[in-house]
Amino acid sequence: MPFHVPIDEARKRFPNYTFIKALTASEQKAAFHVQDKNGEDLCLKIVNPNFGLDRVPREVEAMLKVKHPNVVEFVEYSLSVKRDGSLYYIIENFVEGTDLTAELGKPWDHTRAAEFFAALLDGLNELRRANVVHRDLKPSNVRVRADGEPVIIDFGLARHLDLPDITKTGALVGTPLYFAPEQFTGERKYIDHRTDLFAVGILLYSALVGKHPFDAATHDFNALADAIKNSEEYLSDPGFAALPAPWKLVVKKLLSKQREHRFNDAAQAASVVRKAGGLT
Ligand SMILES: Nc1ncnc2c1ncn2[C@@H]1O[C@H](COP(=O)(O)OP(=O)(O)OP(=O)(O)O)[C@@H](O)[C@H]1O
Ligand SMILES: [Mg+2]
Repeated sequence: MPFHVPIDEARKRFPNYTFIKALTASEQKAAFHVQDKNGEDLCLKIVNPNFGLDRVPREVEAMLKVKHPNVVEFVEYSLSVKRDGSLYYIIENFVEGTDLTAELGKPWDHTRAAEFFAALLDGLNELRRANVVHRDLKPSNVRVRADGEPVIIDFGLARHLDLPDITKTGALVGTPLYFAPEQFTGERKYIDHRTDLFAVGILLYSALVGKHPFDAATHDFNALADAIKNSEEYLSDPGFAALPAPWKLVVKKLLSKQREHRFNDAAQAASVVRKAGGLT
């Protein structure tokens, strides 16, 4: 169930902002496009206090250190527990443009894919430098700026996505679509920056081929978990098989079941993506 905060209630709670519009609410937060007194466009996210937020302050703190064109910029936040639990919020820059969701579904031009995904990997590399693993990289957490560049949002808030919570609520079925095999273990020790590289592999495959690599299994949690952990059927998809060899290699490496076989880091992946797309 989405965490719904009526816009009038939000207005009352945040009187210093002009509310432009409520964005699609998710399980975890109610997001609003707002403007501050100077007319600056911002995105206000009121976080559902029912989520376990133990790690959030630390990760948010880390995010304040990150400044990169492909990562959203934090403006202000409060994660203090008030008596009614209502004042968990984050304010970040509003990223004008669309959501990556709107751009997937048909194959992209390869030069565009190289530019976009190399930039996305550059952003991830910056997160790595701040010791942040996103854990929930998916189309709705990647904004596409008006100039076509990606901007990563919602890092550090993915703590609740650990497996026990998912199976408990059964409500986050959309999210495991971008899980790496190790995320199904539900154990944090198996999760690191290479977990995000797997998600990039799924996104890149979707952009190049026009469909999700495990789309035959996306209707059911167990089928999806099994496909992500064990299936390489996507390799024989005609759309994938027809890709130039360098692209196939990049995708295969990103989608390695074992994280040791993925790229060492996002920087290395970015450089190989640029080469695959003929940018260098
Ligand atoms: N900084 C931002 N600028 C512009 N739009 C944003 C910004 N942050 C989020 N949005 C948009 O607001 C909508 C809601 O975002 P939100 O992150 O709450 O939901 P979600 O990504 O669907 O789910 P999740 O809570 O799992 O991340 C999305 O469509 C997202 O693209
Ligand atoms: Mg999001």
